[in-house]
Amino acid sequence: MEDSPLIRDWINGHKGEILGALVEFLRFPTISAQHKYWGALEEAAQWLKGQLEGLGFSVRLLGEPPVVYGYYAKAPNKPTLLLYGHYDVQPPEPLELWESPPFAPRLTTEAIYARGASDDKGQVYAHLAAWRYFIETYGELPVNLHVVLEGQEETGSESLYVVLEKHAPEWRCDAVIVSDTAFFAENIPTLTVGLRGLVYGELSVEGPARDLHSGTFGGVVENPIWALCVILAALKGPDGRVHLPDFYAAVRPVAKDERRLWRQLPANAAHYEALTGAPLSGEVGFTPLERIGIRPTIEIHGIWGGYTGEGSKTIIPTSAHAKLSLRLVPHQDPAEVWQRLEEFIHRMAPPGVKVTLRRLHTGAPAFETPTDSPYYQVAAEAVAKAFGRWPVPLREGGSIPVLTALHKALGGVPIVLIGFGLPTDAVHSPNEHFKLTQLWQGIEALIYAYQGFGKL
Ligand code: BES
Ligand code: ZN
Repeated sequence: MEDSPLIRDWINGHKGEILGALVEFLRFPTISAQHKYWGALEEAAQWLKGQLEGLGFSVRLLGEPPVVYGYYAKAPNKPTLLLYGHYDVQPPEPLELWESPPFAPRLTTEAIYARGASDDKGQVYAHLAAWRYFIETYGELPVNLHVVLEGQEETGSESLYVVLEKHAPEWRCDAVIVSDTAFFAENIPTLTVGLRGLVYGELSVEGPARDLHSGTFGGVVENPIWALCVILAALKGPDGRVHLPDFYAAVRPVAKDERRLWRQLPANAAHYEALTGAPLSGEVGFTPLERIGIRPTIEIHGIWGGYTGEGSKTIIPTSAHAKLSLRLVPHQDPAEVWQRLEEFIHRMAPPGVKVTLRRLHTGAPAFETPTDSPYYQVAAEAVAKAFGRWPVPLREGGSIPVLTALHKALGGVPIVLIGFGLPTDAVHSPNEHFKLTQLWQGIEALIYAYQGFGKL
């Protein structure tokens, strides 16, 4: 790999072009959670199709919303990789907290700001840029490639599950590569080796048929917001433990060697306080990295009901609602957790209200990937070469729910998670951005990685 100065020159000479294309990609408001944006999913998919065709891929849009599938196979004796990524994004609200609109990308000397800049459009585009390097320099890619870019990662991958059933047998490959994760810190390159699973639901509590005067009827009718609070409060203790029966039965203790590795990272209270603006909290008896990596959690994402406008209003409202999810660790079964959650909320509901739990997401188990595959080794060398430091293998707390199904559908090939985000990127939050040094060094690392894969 003596050609790194040439690779860096190529990247330096193409920065304007790469950013221009990424800005186009980021302009599509591809919010998969909201149906009115499904037209944007279709448009972004068409745009990706054009980009991939420009690189010599044959491309099809499969399913609805489309899974962009591209194929490039010009080297029969070389390995075949499959790139998985997503072009949908999380809802950008609250809009008033964005310094510039979420779908009007803003460039500073440091970063590119837009919803999806880091998660995951910027990281997906880094691969397209790396491929362009090979096409312009050698006229071809050093590997064969399947590209699978979905528009529903953030909401449950429904379309991709259907597409997988039919098409996965045609996607034979030696390894899967994914760039949808982050470094532990800017100066601590990371390769993710584990992700948590998830179940997600919306809890609704229904009470009186109309809003009631809380003086006239207060004391004789259950208040749905109160009932919701009772149920939610029962779900977790002050020690951070989830109160569903048997919730921890399958959870394994931390492996000693992982614990030793994690102790070497500066993942202390000050680190998390600096990142979040909040004091450290969570399950008693575990370090922060353990809480994120190998312990399950429950969270409430939104809660509403009753009167929240200006001034006071005295009512007992008709209903109350909350969106909530549980993050799962290896060996926990999402179907079983869902069933326990359903039973629990009905058991905890006070008399006089009707409680329902609606599933908002397919749900998925936790994901783990080994570090002993040659593809992981090549990725680690590539990151080390581009970022100047050997990457740490680390479990992340986030989820890429479809990975387990993809892994199975492709016959158990290794999956390499080589992501370039930073914990400061404000993903899922206002003012999401992707740091430009991560983008450029990320592209460099991917070029080394594809070179290395081509030699396996
Ligand atoms: N890119 C993230 C997953 C991720 C987050 C990996 C943080 C590593 C660190 C992904 O796009 C994501 O946010 N997934 C959702 C899935 C959920 C909505 C089902 C998540 O984790 O919340
Ligand atoms: Zn993502």
